[in-house]
Amino acid sequence: MTATPAGRAVRRAGMPWSWCTLAAGVAGLACLGGVLTPAAYADEKSGSPEGAAAFQSNCALCHGPAGAGVPALAPAITDYPARYAATSEGRRQLAMTVLYGMFGEITVGDAHFNGQMPDLSRLDDATLAAILNFVVFDLAHAPADVKPLTAAEIAAERAHTVDGAAVRAHRKSLAIAGP
Ligand code: HEC
Repeated sequence: MTATPAGRAVRRAGMPWSWCTLAAGVAGLACLGGVLTPAAYADEKSGSPEGAAAFQSNCALCHGPAGAGVPALAPAITDYPARYAATSEGRRQLAMTVLYGMFGEITVGDAHFNGQMPDLSRLDDATLAAILNFVVFDLAHAPADVKPLTAAEIAAERAHTVDGAAVRAHRKSLAIAGP
């Protein structure tokens, strides 16, 4: 999706850009409100418009519309998801996190969290893969040689149920995102 010249003009004027509205229009989905504040973000192309819309509906409430996180509520997901997506265990970690949630203390950069991410297993495999591709490519800027996540990868993790504490333990074992 490419920003329209009108959209750029609106952003330059410091007004909220209605990327969310555009994505919702394309996908025909409802979109939770939210102003995209980081100026750089709005000029990104979205690799996954449906993932973008589903992210706004299911994740933005806690992680923020551009994934920057909310202090003491939910971590930023704008960096290491790209590194996760480059390894097979990291890809499993991303799928497990959205399917089963996460529970327990984690550190992201200098920030500590000890919250509970809900499981989102009610969303189907294709939707979860699209959301993760939005996170990995649009929010965390993974390089082009990283392969998009597939519905089959989500299905593989759905076949092995774990709980949110195990998701957190697997995260720790990877040592990609910090303790
Ligand atoms: C109700 C709030 C909430 C919602 C909704 C939510 N999350 Fe989370 N998320 C959290 C919290 C809290 C954590 C950290 C859990 C902890 O402290 O153990 C987290 C952790 C994560 C992590 C792992 C962070 C890390 O450092 O390993 C990812 C990735 C993630 N969320 C993505 C998503 C995506 C994608 C969605 C939507 C499909 C989503 N979250 C929806 C609250 C939420």
